Amino acid sequence: MVRAFAPGKCILFGEHAVVYGHPAVAVAIEAGVEVRLEESERWVLDGMNFEPSRHPHIKHIITNVFEYDGSPLKIDINSTLFPAAGLGSSAALSNAMGAALQELIDPSGDIDAIKLARISHSAEAIAQEGRASPTDTAASALGGSVVVSGERLKGINHRFDAELITPEGERNWSIHSAELHPNLAEAWLVLGFTGKGSPTGKMVAGVADLLEKEPAHKEDMLAIANITNAGLAALAAGNLPAIGIAMDACHKRLQNIQVSSPALDLLVNSARPHSFGAKLTGAGGGGCMVALTNNPKRVAEAIEIAGGKPLISRFGTEGVRLID
Ligand code: MEV
Repeated sequence: MVRAFAPGKCILFGEHAVVYGHPAVAVAIEAGVEVRLEESERWVLDGMNFEPSRHPHIKHIITNVFEYDGSPLKIDINSTLFPAAGLGSSAALSNAMGAALQELIDPSGDIDAIKLARISHSAEAIAQEGRASPTDTAASALGGSVVVSGERLKGINHRFDAELITPEGERNWSIHSAELHPNLAEAWLVLGFTGKGSPTGKMVAGVADLLEKEPAHKEDMLAIANITNAGLAALAAGNLPAIGIAMDACHKRLQNIQVSSPALDLLVNSARPHSFGAKLTGAGGGGCMVALTNNPKRVAEAIEIAGGKPLISRFGTEGVRLID
């Protein structure tokens, strides 16, 4: 049997804008997805018959990427992430599935995180109708803190480049790893799930429609890019209050492009009195918000009282890995 784990992710700045080549910053979180694979007499997923059409990410990896034609597999998935909640559960699933299948086919004990990030990005692109940035997949594969941008950034560790033909034209991204300032060891991320899942593809398509019908919203995208750059500088300096201010400003712009919801706003507002800053994270529409705080218990309580499900995480955990 082979086992692999990949973490979920939390976008601190730049969701949606990154699909259009603007920068985004994401960190790997503690919760994630574990995949276990073993050869079997028939194809089974979590104890049921495996129906590939219902699991596009897994199907893509088995069939298109690895062109696997070996024995049927018993696939077991164990996730500690809220599903369809903006925490990169599909990216983590793709990365863990890719790592486990690679190890099953060619047991070496080594995994290539960049190769897995590329494979998983192609799976996301299919699932999101051709509009997917490599942010979620790179954060889950590489771990730590990643900065994804339409251009190579100076003074930060460049890891790889990615490209995709989207309905709006070709996009290119450079993926970097950012060092985490020691001050961040004192801070926590508290995620708050609204209880309502939201498909990323639908939210991304909604933003594409809005930009086409009301091009003035491109201004919000540019503002998100500026906020992300300010947030990145604050992260590099370990300036927690400045990171929080940038998170609040980012949430305002995400509200403008209509990806927040009353439930997300309620959780964001409940967390703010005990946080440096708070915003929705990921695709929005439902899903999760995130708060940066040095009082995670208090923020988790506030989120729970406001009707959300809290999840406390450290910053920037390790990326995809095999488990013994
Ligand atoms: C989803 O976690 C983040 C989005 O920016 C989509 C993407 O980057 O592909 C909304």
